[in-house]
Amino acid sequence: MKILGIETSCDETSAAVLADNQKILSSIVLSQEEIHSPYGGIVPELASRQHILTIDCVVEEALQRAKLALGDINVFAVTQGPGLVGSLLVGLSFAKGLAYSTGKPLLPVDHLEAHVQSAFLENREIAYPALALLVSGGHTALFFLKEKLSFAIIGKTRDDAAGEALDKIAKFLYLGYPGGPVIDRLAEGADPGVFPFAVPQMTDKSLDYSFSGLKTAALRQIKENRITRDHPQFKDFLASFQGGIIQALLANLGRALEEYRPKSLILCGGVARNKALRKEFQGFARRHRLPASVPKPEFCTDNAVMVAALALEKINLGEPLGLQMDLNAYPRRGQTLVT
Ligand code: KG4
Ligand code: ZN
Repeated sequence: MKILGIETSCDETSAAVLADNQKILSSIVLSQEEIHSPYGGIVPELASRQHILTIDCVVEEALQRAKLALGDINVFAVTQGPGLVGSLLVGLSFAKGLAYSTGKPLLPVDHLEAHVQSAFLENREIAYPALALLVSGGHTALFFLKEKLSFAIIGKTRDDAAGEALDKIAKFLYLGYPGGPVIDRLAEGADPGVFPFAVPQMTDKSLDYSFSGLKTAALRQIKENRITRDHPQFKDFLASFQGGIIQALLANLGRALEEYRPKSLILCGGVARNKALRKEFQGFARRHRLPASVPKPEFCTDNAVMVAALALEKINLGEPLGLQMDLNAYPRRGQTLVT
């Protein structure tokens, strides 16, 4: 069986073809970074327009590299949500068109679940129950996986996502968009202990995250210490802020560990590309004597391989297949679009 996955939830237009043994036959990711960079963040209207312009070529390229024709594809998979509605609708409508014209089934997948599933691409033997920390530009969440395909959210951000906080502070310091990778690069080798950042704590003992306090603290430090690119400790400041975010991420994971007693840990999402976070996460797992799975960097940021991989896993577990022409996108989990 051959499956074609499509991902357009945010600012990457992506298509991938996988065989039923999860072998990746092709993977195309077209980033819109250049388009959004001048604005310091994603402009939803521009994102959907760009997806419309490129989705055709991206899918065509994925098929060509897999050395397949459209008729060879047995199932189409597509991200249904959460994400930017305009962007999601482009991928969803395109996938519906492909399914309708070929008479093959279409399987929708959840973007966050696909991120978590990306950890299984390189390691099919992750032990259950597992705890997954998903850190991206739009979402920060803790998942408890009791068994295969059971994705329960046990904590989520109440305001900014971790990547969003990094991007916003980078924007404030004129570091460009996306700011996460720039901070990652500049903070390398710098001292994260120079500027103090307190770990935010929920008063209600929930496992939810909040990054707006850290962002406000960073803005205050920038003002008080007159931090600019020319400040002698500019890199230490970035390392300290990044370190504050990492500590906040791991603090809740530590509490979740006590409550859920998992057999393994997963780190995923775009911010999981961050070198310091990857290192700290591995150290955290070692201290708790738990195996850790972190996808390789290209599968941390948005991609269609994870979409097709999750759909394949669902098919293997008996998910019913159909044409699904009435599918609609959802902007947030549990939120449906009224048409
Ligand atoms: O998962 P993703 O591609 O899209 C969403 O679903 O949101 O994540 C994008 C986020 C952006 O906030 C970007 O700044 C961040 O991932 N990011 C990083 C790094 N690479 C990407 N953050 C820190 N360090 C990185 N190396
Ligand atoms: Zn994502």
